Amino acid sequence: MTHCAIKVQDLSFNWHENAPVLRSCSLEVPEGEFWMLLGTNGSGKSTLLRLLTGLLTPQSGTIEMTPPVGFVFQNPDRQLVMPTVGADIAFGLVCEHLDPAEVRNRVREALSAVNLLELERRPIYALSGGQKQRIAIAGAIARHCSVLLLDEPTALLDADTQLELVAQVQRLVKTQGITALWVTHRLDELNYCDGAFLLEGGQVTDQGDPQLLKAKLLQKNAS
Ligand SMILES: Nc1ncnc2c1ncn2[C@@H]1O[C@H](COP(=O)(O)OP(=O)(O)O)[C@@H](O)[C@H]1O
Ligand SMILES: [Mg+2]
Repeated sequence: MTHCAIKVQDLSFNWHENAPVLRSCSLEVPEGEFWMLLGTNGSGKSTLLRLLTGLLTPQSGTIEMTPPVGFVFQNPDRQLVMPTVGADIAFGLVCEHLDPAEVRNRVREALSAVNLLELERRPIYALSGGQKQRIAIAGAIARHCSVLLLDEPTALLDADTQLELVAQVQRLVKTQGITALWVTHRLDELNYCDGAFLLEGGQVTDQGDPQLLKAKLLQKNAS
């Protein structure tokens, strides 16, 4: 049996009474795979991710994930807090109480993983949107995250940068043994993942082969 790095069971959540966002929602992502979570605007994708990050508490249900868990949000300007790239990634390691040489190794290793080693001393403000997202991902890699959760990380990127980022996460999943769950509503991103979930009415109503799901959604949009 495949081991699942992300396991969500019967999760229920509502912001207001009588308006459930998630209704006994369940999903499992196998270890070492790249899965996407699709759904229309307002279907509860961000709410589900915020429950996974622990920023929200569910009314009921369980969440199991292989730690450590890393997050990448839609807007990197809310995530990168230090003045330079190297300092930002190092800042994410503060809780681990590593010696300075190990911090430096981790920062360089993570920047190499996202092919941005040359930006180590660059001020954050001088980065493009796509570079900022890759630095946010490097922050998670520096922490040796097993699970990476990404909430529409390409929302603010242009089309080319968008597909570069998704291809990069696909490569990282395969080379670093990470398990990733990527929220999107852009069907072209489905070409890069191992599987996908469709969130509708607070539950996963379809899942599996991303190409099959894409074909179904295209047909639905056309009709
Ligand atoms: N902070 C909040 N307070 C109250 N309602 C919210 C809040 N955030 C989201 N919602 C509501 O929860 C539902 C799901 O939103 P969200 O999870 O952001 O969907 P998605 O990410 O799929 O677009 C929507 O009806 C939205 O209006
Ligand atoms: Mg959202």
